[in-house]
Amino acid sequence: MAAKTFAPVSLRSAAAPKGLSKTFLGQPAQLKATRAQTARVNVSTSAKLETATSQLPLEMEELPLAVNTWKNKNPLPCKVRSVERIVGPKATGETCHIVIETDKKAPFWEGQSYGIVPPGTKINSKGKEVPHGVRLYSIASTRYGDFYDGETTSLCVRRAVYWDPEMGAEDPAKKGICSNFLCDAAPGTEVALTGPTGKVMLMPEDPNTCYIMVATGTGIAPYRSFWRRMFYERPPNFEFTGLAWLFMGVANSDAKLYDDELQDIIAAYPDQFRVDYALSREQNNTKGGKMYIQDKVEEYKEQVFDLLDNGAHMYFCGLKGMMPGIEEMLKNVCAEKGLEYKEWLEGLKSKEQWHVEVY
Ligand code: FAD
Ligand code: A2P
Repeated sequence: MAAKTFAPVSLRSAAAPKGLSKTFLGQPAQLKATRAQTARVNVSTSAKLETATSQLPLEMEELPLAVNTWKNKNPLPCKVRSVERIVGPKATGETCHIVIETDKKAPFWEGQSYGIVPPGTKINSKGKEVPHGVRLYSIASTRYGDFYDGETTSLCVRRAVYWDPEMGAEDPAKKGICSNFLCDAAPGTEVALTGPTGKVMLMPEDPNTCYIMVATGTGIAPYRSFWRRMFYERPPNFEFTGLAWLFMGVANSDAKLYDDELQDIIAAYPDQFRVDYALSREQNNTKGGKMYIQDKVEEYKEQVFDLLDNGAHMYFCGLKGMMPGIEEMLKNVCAEKGLEYKEWLEGLKSKEQWHVEVY
């Protein structure tokens, strides 16, 4: 991707939103209070956020962008190193952090996805027994993995459960095939990996970029790769001087994902990193309805529009269902500002500032 340049975003240049602490990026105190409730991910992070730059096999910076190195018919056999539930007991579902040993055989760039082909077969619409199809998962680690050696990669997987409408509500929940296979995998389990795929969620080369990252649920995965590259790794060609602002939508405090890492970064880089949560089942929006991610972004519409005007990149990842609400909100803000929504959006797209990956 072409490097993006724009005037450095001074994090203190915008007015602090009402109710927030002195620094523009300071965290509202009430968000800190819930931190202890969140399960910790057992990865090699430091509360002090010591930079891992010296441990990185930096030759991996030189690797070209790879697409579909490993195809569906010839996947890379890998082993699961660990599976850890990363949500608290009151979360509305189960989400796991899964570390997979790739042994440097499937290099990728931050923002890409891998495919996993679950074991077993299914009967297709023609009555024939065929292998299960591939499922995509956003990669939740940087190219160096959670151990900074490039030997592993990580996924953030939510167990899919559903009720078969033909069987009615009485029927026990059915389990999504691949997500349950991954979340139940014991260390050492073999997984068939394809990819990497995807280009829409890549990071701009310029380390002085502003990122506005919007996630629902496991949509946080690619952003974890971003924040670890920006703040934990800081390779010499990517010493991050920009701003990263995460808007995260989950049901409740127990469903927060990687909040321990987020709070460590806020403590270490309060002027460069900010997180705002939309807790749909704990908070209400201004109309008294559920606090969804679009409502939270709307609260900061002035700052968000200013940052976009100054070249910020806006990313959306997670539930497909959030996009109509996001678009509606942005359309309304454009109308308030006398902007033509379609033109405004086309402008962002043409400058490669707009990144959407929803599923
Ligand atoms: P499946 O067995 O494929 O079932 C999937 C869903 O289909 C069910 O939950 C249900 O809603 C529906 N369904 C299937 N059969 C029936 C039926 N008989 N009756 C009613 N409903 C039914 N997921 C993540 O957890 N983390 C990620 O980071 C992630 N990244 C993604 C990135 C991309 C680009 C894409 C496209 C998807 C991503 N996904 C991610 C979603 C993931 O690919 C899978 O779709 C998801 O894990 C479900 O797969 P499964 O095999 O477990 O469920
Ligand atoms: P809720 O489940 O309270 O309706 P999930 O945990 O299922 O991945 O969802 C992540 C978050 O996205 C939850 O807070 C969920 O809220 C919320 N959500 C669900 N539907 C939408 C939507 N249409 N727009 C925005 N957020 C949504």
